[in-house]
Order: sequence, then structure tokens, then C-alpha cells
Amino acid sequence: MTAQLIDGKAIAAQVREQVARQVEARRIEGKRIPGLAVILVGEDPASHVYVSNKHRACEQAGILSFRHALPADTTQEALERLIDELNADSRVDGILLQLPLPEHLDDRPILERILPHKDVDGFHPYNLGRLAQRQPMLRPCTPKGIMTLLQASGLKVRGLDATVVGASNIVGRPMALELMLAGCTTTVCHRFTRNLETHVRRAELLVVAVGKPGLVKGEWVREGAIVIDVGINREQDGRLVGDVEFAPAAERAGWITPVPGGVGPMTVASLLENTLGAAEQHDAMAPAAADR
Ligand code: GUN
Repeated sequence: MTAQLIDGKAIAAQVREQVARQVEARRIEGKRIPGLAVILVGEDPASHVYVSNKHRACEQAGILSFRHALPADTTQEALERLIDELNADSRVDGILLQLPLPEHLDDRPILERILPHKDVDGFHPYNLGRLAQRQPMLRPCTPKGIMTLLQASGLKVRGLDATVVGASNIVGRPMALELMLAGCTTTVCHRFTRNLETHVRRAELLVVAVGKPGLVKGEWVREGAIVIDVGINREQDGRLVGDVEFAPAAERAGWITPVPGGVGPMTVASLLENTLGAAEQHDAMAPAAADR
């Protein structure tokens, strides 16, 4: 392997320790302990694992977490009422609605009901609009975590030709906005892209977030490129693999993220940063709340 590994596990641990130190400093100053409400609807096993990880991470950082596990048959109205209660609760700085929701629920109106300054996932159109207009407030966690990985690895991205593969609302689209903000010339590939290989071969910085194992062939990777693999796919033998063929890609890339231990741990680290940031913003908006 010639590429240098980008160690997301180590970088995420540093971010989490830094958040923990800042939360402790707030406590010593007599400020409120930040609080995160996490809503999980239904029984999706992967979502249960993600939500447990988020609670554990909050606990380790000294952040309060409020767990709202709702049955799969929860109605749209009941979920909207819960959002209203959490919006009004001064102990809650951040609200996270774990996706995907069960089929009968529509996530858009619910995500838009979360007050933008409590939207620690950064999915509200207000926060995405701020990012699009180069005035970011709360930024989607996975793309933000990727920018942290690049920065912590000392990689300068301004002016690079970047290709994002995958155009989801959660990763691909906000990733493209982050890369534009950082000065990359950014191409986004999606299901209608005619020649994926051509766009991958051009990329000095490649971000792949599709959820298809081995979608990007190692031989397509440009010599010396930075390769960020967001995919986490379980093979039949139980192994976790990304969307990029790792071994041949690592022969060509300059830098590459492993799966697991690359991008994955950064999402939760960014969530903690966002929750702390939301608490600070919350104090600035309502100084009286800091005394409670
Ligand atoms: N489902 C998959 N990724 C995410 C995420 O980053 N946030 C939320 N809320 N749900 C998800």
C-alpha cells in the first residue's frame, strides 16, 4: 500500500475529548450542561445501534441526552407534538430525528419543524441554505466530519478538482456545498451520471457515499488522490467494506480512509461539536436561560 491512512478513529477521539473539555469548562463557569434529544421511531436495528452510540458519546462528553424511543405506529401528529415540546424545552439545545422513519411518516415537515438553532443534524432548509450561501451555522455531521478529517491530516483542498459520488440529502449534497465553500472545483455524480469512471479518474479529491460495495474500482483512482469512502457495507462473511475497492485504490491514492475507522466515527464527533455550538448559541440568544 502506498497511500497514507486517514485515521478517523483517532481524529474523532481528539474532537470528542476537546468537546468534553469545553463542556467541563462550561460547568465550572456555572453555565448550563448542553442537552441533546434523540428521537428514534420504530425498530430499525441499524438505527438502534446508531442511536445507542450517540447516547454513549454524549455521556462520555458530559452532554445530557434525552432519549425518545417511539413505537413504529407513531402518527405524524404525535411526532410533530413531540418536536414542539422539545423546541420549547430550555434544557434541550439540540434535537436529532434518526432517519429513516417508518414508511407511513413524512420526514420533511418534521425536519422543518425543528427550530433551526436546535437542528444539530443541519438538515433544516435554513441551515442548508446558510451553507449554500457561505454562511454556515449548524452543518450536516458527516460532511462536516470529513472536512475535519482533511484539516486534521494537514491536507489543503483549495483549488482541487473534487468529485462527490452520491447526491443524498444527508451526505452527497451537503458535501458538495462544503467542498465548494473550501474552494474545490466540485462535480457531483448520481444515478443519472453517464460515465462515472471519467469523473472519478479526474478527481484529486474523491468522496464516495452511495452504499454499494466496490462501486468505485481501485484502478479508476487518480495517482496521489485523496480518497474518502463514506460507505459502510456488510459482506456475506460479516466483514465491513466501503464503496471503494480498498486494496487497489490504496496502491494509487496519496491518502485514503479505511472502512471501518475512517469517516464513520466522525459523524458522532461532529454531532457533539454541533450540540455544544447550539448550546453556546442558545446562551447568546437567551442569557436568562443560562441561570436555570
Ligand atoms: N441516518 C443515517 N445517517 C444519519 C444522520 O447523520 N442523522 C440522522 N438523523 N439520521 C441518519
